Amino acid sequence: MEKEHIIVGNWKMYKTEQETVEFLQTLAPLVAAVNARVYLAVPFTSIPTAVKVTEKTNIVIGAQNMNDATKGAFTGEIAGIMLKASGAEFVILGHSERRELFKEDDDFINRKVIRALKDDLQPILCIGETLDERELGKTEEVLARQLQKGLKKVSMEDVEKIIIAYEPVWAIGTGKTATPELAQEAHRFIRQTLGTLFSGKESKISLLYGGSVKPDNAALLLSQKDINGALVGGASLDPKSFADIINAC
Ligand code: PGA
Repeated sequence: MEKEHIIVGNWKMYKTEQETVEFLQTLAPLVAAVNARVYLAVPFTSIPTAVKVTEKTNIVIGAQNMNDATKGAFTGEIAGIMLKASGAEFVILGHSERRELFKEDDDFINRKVIRALKDDLQPILCIGETLDERELGKTEEVLARQLQKGLKKVSMEDVEKIIIAYEPVWAIGTGKTATPELAQEAHRFIRQTLGTLFSGKESKISLLYGGSVKPDNAALLLSQKDINGALVGGASLDPKSFADIINAC
């Protein structure tokens, strides 16, 4: 069974509202006829405008983070219901930059996953090992823990809505892509673990690879059996290179 590929751009802290409009006007015609789902996680300030500009296109707009509360005294945070009201349809959760730089742990990320589902936002849960963990032979232990804790209390019904992104931390923004074989092996393990946690659902969950995905390595990564798409950082900032990755599907 062939799953439709999902290509997600993660802009991180790049692009003003005006730059977002220019980017989308260039991207939309380049990907209008593709055989893949195109997602773009833009900065909060660009969401309403991006939603408006992409109204009649196949591009889906989402966010890069949210809090697990619906409101309250949390200076600088944003709630899922606010994202939803601004037109976002999905949210990236547990990105390694959030885990490392902002000390987010598996329990906090799990609460966000649960909240996002309640708020009708599709969660993209990011997992992945660091270089140290890989060299110590702990990759599978780390992935299993991040899945088990990150998906705690998710129902059998809801788990199908979740997208899992495998991003080896050593491959993010470094130009060091995992080889297709290594990526496939991790994805196979993730699918098997999902089967243990949510028996029968593992084939219904989309698994994305992330970490230095570029136009020249996308096709090979995307052709791997358990890889259903890509989470793209740096290369999603340029409409031409992002479109080339999407067209590699
Ligand atoms: P990269 O980032 O493509 O620049 O490595 C991927 C990510 O952080 O999601």
